[in-house]
Amino acid sequence: MIKNLSFSEPIYVLAPLAGFTDLPFRSVVKKFGADLTVSEMLSSNALAHGSTKTLHMLEKSPIEDPYSVQIAASEVDMAKRAVEVLNEQNAIDIIDLNCGCPVPKVVGHGSGSSLLLDLPLMGDIIKTIKDTSNKSLTSVKIRLGFNEKNHIDIAKVVEDNGADFLAVHGRTRAGKFKSEVDYDAIKEIKESVSIPVIANGDIDSYEKAQWVLEHTRCDGVMIGRGAVGNPWIFHQLKNSTKDISNDIKHAIIMEHFDKMIEFYGSHGVPMFRKHTHTYSKGYRGASKLRDEVNHIADVKEYREVLDNFFKNAELA
Ligand SMILES: Cc1cc2nc3c(=O)[nH]c(=O)nc-3n(C[C@H](O)[C@H](O)[C@H](O)COP(=O)(O)O)c2cc1C
Repeated sequence: MIKNLSFSEPIYVLAPLAGFTDLPFRSVVKKFGADLTVSEMLSSNALAHGSTKTLHMLEKSPIEDPYSVQIAASEVDMAKRAVEVLNEQNAIDIIDLNCGCPVPKVVGHGSGSSLLLDLPLMGDIIKTIKDTSNKSLTSVKIRLGFNEKNHIDIAKVVEDNGADFLAVHGRTRAGKFKSEVDYDAIKEIKESVSIPVIANGDIDSYEKAQWVLEHTRCDGVMIGRGAVGNPWIFHQLKNSTKDISNDIKHAIIMEHFDKMIEFYGSHGVPMFRKHTHTYSKGYRGASKLRDEVNHIADVKEYREVLDNFFKNAELA
């Protein structure tokens, strides 16, 4: 195992969310207590071809320790080439294989959850990553099946091919992001493999996280949508508290904005609009703020409007 990730007690993981969990967001979440952060999904093809945009997406914040990079792959050779590119980057501790993405474009390419339809291929790709990687750990993120559940078979293939741990989103591909999460199935996976298992799906509070950990006996929980607009959930988890002062929220929102500008330049302004929308939900004057920021392109002006709003924010 690696520094800061011993699995001796349950860990709290930020789920990869394409379009959300970029470096600025991850660094904010990390500061609030996430034990592990994972990059957005990167295509093996783009990595192997050295796409500049993809290499930019690989960058991590210095506080992300350990740091996991997630790849999507549909073939052994391409996965190997992608891992060779990642081997040149020292800052990565874990390579994670995406076996859960349900999006038609990804499934159509034979990667993401479509690997669940071809377990021998999935196993070969995992083994190739493990054998090629110079990183400390290899992990896999799965769903319970494609159309039907075959979660135990999937988990055993993951384990047998050398993965060091796995994360389970407790739905099938057919269940998309809406069907009820099957925590019993996650528990069955935990009981049938000996590598650490992280539970994922609809965990959005301290109470829910504790319940899932107790029910499944998993080695950690992974939180995605529950952290969007709410990065302090990791503080609540770590400190078993619901209390977050307005001052802390304000400081974090400003830090998130500043990190966006640092990472994306002035393009960070339009990109921060969606975050402004989620952060302001439930506050007095939120819709006026949303209208206002939709028309601001200047970094300084946006920052000032944001600062003024959240400094004195009152719940509606
Ligand atoms: C907008 C969005 C983007 C996502 N991107 C990824 C991704 O890049 N890689 C991945 O493994 N899962 C991705 N997921 C799935 C999440 O990591 C997670 O498994 C799922 O949302 C269930 O967890 P939650 O209820 O805590 O959000 C994405 C989900 C959403 C909603």
